[in-house]
Amino acid sequence: MPSFSLKEIQAPVAVEMAEFEKKFRQSMRSNVMLLDKITGYIVKRKGKQMRPLFVFLSAGVANGISESTYRGAALIELLHTATLVHDDVVDDAHYRRSYFSINALWKNKIAVLVGDFLLSRGLLLSLENNDFDLLKIVSNAVKEMSEGELLQMEKARKLDITEEVYYEIIRQKTASLITACCRTGAASSGASSGIVDQMTQFGENVGMAFQIKDDLFDYGTYEIGKPTGIDIKEKKMTLPLIYALNQSGRSEKNRIKKMIKKSAQEPALVHEVIDFVKSTGGIQYAIEVMEQYHEKAKDILAQLPDSDYKTSLDQLVQFTIDRTR
Ligand code: IPE
Ligand code: IPE
Ligand code: MG
Ligand code: MG
Repeated sequence: MPSFSLKEIQAPVAVEMAEFEKKFRQSMRSNVMLLDKITGYIVKRKGKQMRPLFVFLSAGVANGISESTYRGAALIELLHTATLVHDDVVDDAHYRRSYFSINALWKNKIAVLVGDFLLSRGLLLSLENNDFDLLKIVSNAVKEMSEGELLQMEKARKLDITEEVYYEIIRQKTASLITACCRTGAASSGASSGIVDQMTQFGENVGMAFQIKDDLFDYGTYEIGKPTGIDIKEKKMTLPLIYALNQSGRSEKNRIKKMIKKSAQEPALVHEVIDFVKSTGGIQYAIEVMEQYHEKAKDILAQLPDSDYKTSLDQLVQFTIDRTR
């Protein structure tokens, strides 16, 4: 299947995306000058906005876009932005979306508070409109995201993560929000519970593929607008490395683990670990697993009635694994 750009993919919901963007900007405004300056900075360097796209397309494919679909899209992008601001503090990452991260420019203290502000703006937006169903879906995802990030930190300390635990981590920290996008979209359209559940399953599989792809970026050399090689430095063990270690004998395993532990002080070790992962087939294995999730998502989508929305969703799933940023 050929790859489509996000612009092409969003064509059936281009008007809705433009409307969403307005809501999103407005909800970030504040009378506190420092805050307004920072949210202005965030809005200018927007991300791919794949999550709102998932929300609108899921609503379209289910029973049609409604007024609450817009708020769902804005709420989710606000929460996503909040978690990225916090994530860069947690990961000590100084680049995001090709520019300096909030913590790099304004330091951790301010970044933590800005993240909280964005989170509360999202929650208020839904509360003001009595979108309780939406709030329930999304609050659950936020809870899971924090759990996922903390589980990841717990495992990073010990360097003992298994493939199963890795899947649990990425299900919680990333797939949960993409699941919430598809579920929110479908629920906001007033679709039957059967369809809502199908879209939930769809979202979970795309979300898993999405994070495996993100983890693969860390092993690459292309310009993705955020740091690479940082996962190893932060002792974050992702699928390529977990697989490669599982293929190795005990002494080799210990040798690599020692390198990972020292890599924050000696950057050259990051490259050595990356070379080990590559030569042991870790990248290839992660791509295969990602493709399995991709296939599952496509199979679920195939059961839904044909429409332009469905075609775009199919392309968006493809984009998730083909993307270069
Ligand atoms: C980054 O998400 C965070 C992850 C869950 C890996 P995106 O890649 O969607 O980030 P932006 O919004 O486009 O910058
Ligand atoms: C995903 O993890 C982040 C969140 C769920 C907030 P990463 O730490 O891998 O995300 P990036 O790579 O920094 O965007
Ligand atoms: Mg990060
Ligand atoms: Mg990452």
